Amino acid sequence: MVEHSDPHARRAYLLHEAQFGAPPAVVASAPGRVNLIGEHVDYCGGWVLPMAIPNRTYVTFQAVPGRECRMFSSRLGEIAFPIERPERTGDWADYVRGTVREFVERGLRVPGLVGSITGDVPLGGGLSSSASLDVALATALNALVGGALEPDQLARLAQAVENRTVGVACGLMDPMAVAVAGEGEALLLDCRTGATEGVPVQFEAASFLLADSRVPRALAGSKYNERREETARGLAALVEAGWPLRDLRDVPFERLDEALGSLAPPIDRRVRHVVSECQRVREAVAALRAGDAARFGALLDASHASLRDDFEVSHPDVDELVALARVVPGVHGARVTGAGFGGFVLVLVSADARQRLADELVVKYYQPRGRGPSILDAGRGSPPARVDYESGRDLPH
Ligand code: GLA
Repeated sequence: MVEHSDPHARRAYLLHEAQFGAPPAVVASAPGRVNLIGEHVDYCGGWVLPMAIPNRTYVTFQAVPGRECRMFSSRLGEIAFPIERPERTGDWADYVRGTVREFVERGLRVPGLVGSITGDVPLGGGLSSSASLDVALATALNALVGGALEPDQLARLAQAVENRTVGVACGLMDPMAVAVAGEGEALLLDCRTGATEGVPVQFEAASFLLADSRVPRALAGSKYNERREETARGLAALVEAGWPLRDLRDVPFERLDEALGSLAPPIDRRVRHVVSECQRVREAVAALRAGDAARFGALLDASHASLRDDFEVSHPDVDELVALARVVPGVHGARVTGAGFGGFVLVLVSADARQRLADELVVKYYQPRGRGPSILDAGRGSPPARVDYESGRDLPH
């Protein structure tokens, strides 16, 4: 299981050893993710197309005597709590508590623990730093206690941690993306059935780049919940009007205008986003399979316009970042990603224009705002969650 070479895993191992005076028994990691297209449709039973990114979260564990869990995080601080009473406290420790709780409730015996968390997934930028942490924790604990849970079970366990302990009503997209997306692939996920299909990411001379707007996402939580309620109201109104729907995704794209006729603003706009975005995912999958970067880029642009105007989850700075990227020759398309209201922008750019794009964004977006540039390579589908090291093997290299 530890065939790859990952210097970050080695660093996590050494940090654990320095912190606790003995090596970890397990090092596991999980990537962040970017959703290529299919935004704000996972809770409407729709289709999404996330891809794992190169940035990862690393978790180490060692069983110790006693009934306490002690964790150290380079970015978040230190926590300790009793294994038997993992109650919610409203801080990052809830991710660890919630994971322990889910294992215990599945009948798995969790020993006293020491462990660490490190990583480089940007926090709070729409790249699923929390799902990455949830799934890395679950993967590491599963290896430590011999839980034999499969990746999709670990994803559902991670979602339960968010829903039941952290208190975020997130969908299945993020944990599935980081737990099961295949290397070199984006993951087409049917959020109603849970069915998945890998779609190879294979544009010949174009790739995805991520640029952080660095807008603080103060309203993200409350606005996210508001959008969820609005889509639920849209569904209820359509069912009331006689449409035989289980989810908003069931509105046929060809009959969208007809459906919108029975809805009042802003609900009509919210529904138009969801139904048109589901259609764009279908078209984007075809474009990705055909290696058609121009078509894929046009769909990113259309998705952004819909998220900005109909779903209203963008931000003026994000719109400007998208617009600045969009006019650079060689850029195929760009859009806001994740929950929105700030965070990262996804750009599909041809290989020979990458540097020019980065330079333009530094000069025209970051410098005038006095914000440090944060531009990442999204890769082509990084490895999903994995065990990097188990005791009895060689130190990770
Ligand atoms: C957040 C949520 C996801 C999804 C996206 C929007 O990332 O965690 O479940 O709803 O927003 O597509």
